[in-house]
Amino acid sequence: MTATRSAGPGPESQTRVEAPLKLTGAARYAADHRPDGVLHAILVGAPVAAGRLRGVDAAAALVLPGVTAVLTAADLPSFHELPPPSAVRVMPFSDDRIRYEGQPVAIVLAESVEAAEAGRAAVIVDCERETPVLIGRGRREPAMGEDEVRGDVDAALAAAAITIEQTYLQAPRHHHTMETSGTVARWDGGRLTLWDSVQASSTVIGVVSTAFGIDAADVHVVAPHTGGGFGAKGYIWPHEILAAAAARLAGRPVKLHLRRPDQFSNVGYQPWMEQTIRLGATADGVLLGLEHEVVNNTALADTHIEPATEASKSLYAVPALRLRQLVERVSLNVPTPMRAPVEGPGLWALESAMNELADAAGLDPLDVRLANFAEVSPADGRPWSANGLREAYEEGARRYGWRTRHQRARRDGPWVIGHGMATCTMGSFRFPGAGRVRLRRDGAVVEANVHDIGTGVQTVLSQIAAEELGISPDRVETRWGDTDLPATGPTYGSSTTMGTGSAVAAAARDVSKQLAELGHGDRDPLDALGRAGIDELVGEGRFELPGGAGFNADGEGTPYAIRTWGVIFTEVGVDPDFGLLRLRRAVGVYSAGRIVNPVTARAQMTGGIIWGWGKATMEESDQEPVHGRWLAKNLSNVAVPVNADIPADIDVSFTNEYDEAASLIGARGIGELGATGVDAAVAAAVHDATGIRVRDLPILPWKVLAG
Ligand code: MOS
Repeated sequence: MTATRSAGPGPESQTRVEAPLKLTGAARYAADHRPDGVLHAILVGAPVAAGRLRGVDAAAALVLPGVTAVLTAADLPSFHELPPPSAVRVMPFSDDRIRYEGQPVAIVLAESVEAAEAGRAAVIVDCERETPVLIGRGRREPAMGEDEVRGDVDAALAAAAITIEQTYLQAPRHHHTMETSGTVARWDGGRLTLWDSVQASSTVIGVVSTAFGIDAADVHVVAPHTGGGFGAKGYIWPHEILAAAAARLAGRPVKLHLRRPDQFSNVGYQPWMEQTIRLGATADGVLLGLEHEVVNNTALADTHIEPATEASKSLYAVPALRLRQLVERVSLNVPTPMRAPVEGPGLWALESAMNELADAAGLDPLDVRLANFAEVSPADGRPWSANGLREAYEEGARRYGWRTRHQRARRDGPWVIGHGMATCTMGSFRFPGAGRVRLRRDGAVVEANVHDIGTGVQTVLSQIAAEELGISPDRVETRWGDTDLPATGPTYGSSTTMGTGSAVAAAARDVSKQLAELGHGDRDPLDALGRAGIDELVGEGRFELPGGAGFNADGEGTPYAIRTWGVIFTEVGVDPDFGLLRLRRAVGVYSAGRIVNPVTARAQMTGGIIWGWGKATMEESDQEPVHGRWLAKNLSNVAVPVNADIPADIDVSFTNEYDEAASLIGARGIGELGATGVDAAVAAAVHDATGIRVRDLPILPWKVLAG
């Protein structure tokens, strides 16, 4: 179990409680666990992206020192049908079809990782090669049945003074977590322990126990520090099940930590997307109708839908609407959510089209947003739980100097300067979950099975408990990352502070109630415990959704629609000779309920903006056009923003309203919100600087030069 005690002067300036562990190297990650007798596993992937497996020849590998076994389909059990949130329904090894390059066809087990690697290289895989299906050439099919329709969109578009119809593309991109995904599996008789690098260990149990047909109570998942997730570790992936299967066959613990090249094909990525927007507006930029069609690539057998139309459904007051989601099946592994999913891709299209509408109407893009502000939820008319978007627009424009932007210099040396903006929004993903607070004489212990993906969740939970109990946060210790702890919602979807934070607050209130019942409600709680002669009081808390729902995206079943909002303004320099782009300034203002910890919240949003700049201008995972495989197999040619790409001038602030409908603590979600809208704002800034409209992410230099 991972635990840490918070240190720091007080809530306002509280820094991360886990920082000393990370700085000193004491933080342990999944692969740092080395049970006695552990074997190292490495996957052998199919060398072709499409075809049929004829055979695996392991003879040369098996004679190498240290190699103990090479497992193939003949050795592995057939797994029971995997329930959600398994990322796949079709497990590798379940038939002889090769559907993507890197699909596991064998597993080498060895006494050391070096021996396993040598064994991997010696295994000969015999495949019948077929022509892979490339992105853009796959079979398209409706992803959600019927189109979603509101009003008469054809009539609205026909009546509009201004219409915009454009298609916006974005490249696939991988999460590139620093710590690749990995699992250490150990069986003790019929009981399975997994040390796992995941964002939702509570959900691992259901999938793994079903796969093996064992009792859920016999699976224990320990998920210590997690070296990045961004969605790649949200669902359950085959390697977690394969590690457990290999350990059972070998009769020894097995560590299966994905090599960097294997990470590309054995967990997900954000899909390639093609989005077409048709919108019609009055001459004043008031939307009359909107059509949004989304295509995302998925795998041949497995399906991931990226529901980017959500952005169009819920952001602006549009009377007529038609939304359509399609998937296109290609010879790649299945995609998965990636920061920021759903509205992240959706706003790239919608906000780009809104900027094009502003230009066509000769209006300031901020005024076009204000003209279409939704006073209530456009999806169903419910009032907003709390909505600071107007304040965010105003404050952001003030901080940026938006209205006077073109009075400032348009050139700086080789750089031509442009300005762009976009609205930011996300749904409010809420999951039920539990938390526990143990009040002891020397302090309190928070127990909740959240994950440390770098967001600062331990710090925030410590703070919430301290505040509720009325003790100093440095007297609170948080325990996380173990399925023996109270089950929480997953650590994704920007949901953790809202859900688990509320459960922990409820648990702390339960402790306070017990103290009051003992007649000590008015004392310092630590002092009171001593006087009452009690060593420990245990409080339990839960965060529940209406009707016992397991998930809730916009306050379904409540009187209020719940979303988060914001605005991003960017100043971009373009070098017209080389097509280079520089982010010079960014101002983001966000409406996300109460901000529990300004330090970690600001870090989340700054990280989101940087992530958005990467998506806008750098990140692209190419499908190689002949072989159909991912072109990159390591990080050496993967462009992501580094310090030199990031200006000091990223200005993040919050409207900071208390939202009692969203959660017990007044908070909504933050992290992924910061990554939305940045791409559309940057594209608008490039257009403002150069007159060149790039509708195909990332905005690489050649696209600027080609314009
Ligand atoms: Mo994020 S895609 O919810 O980890």
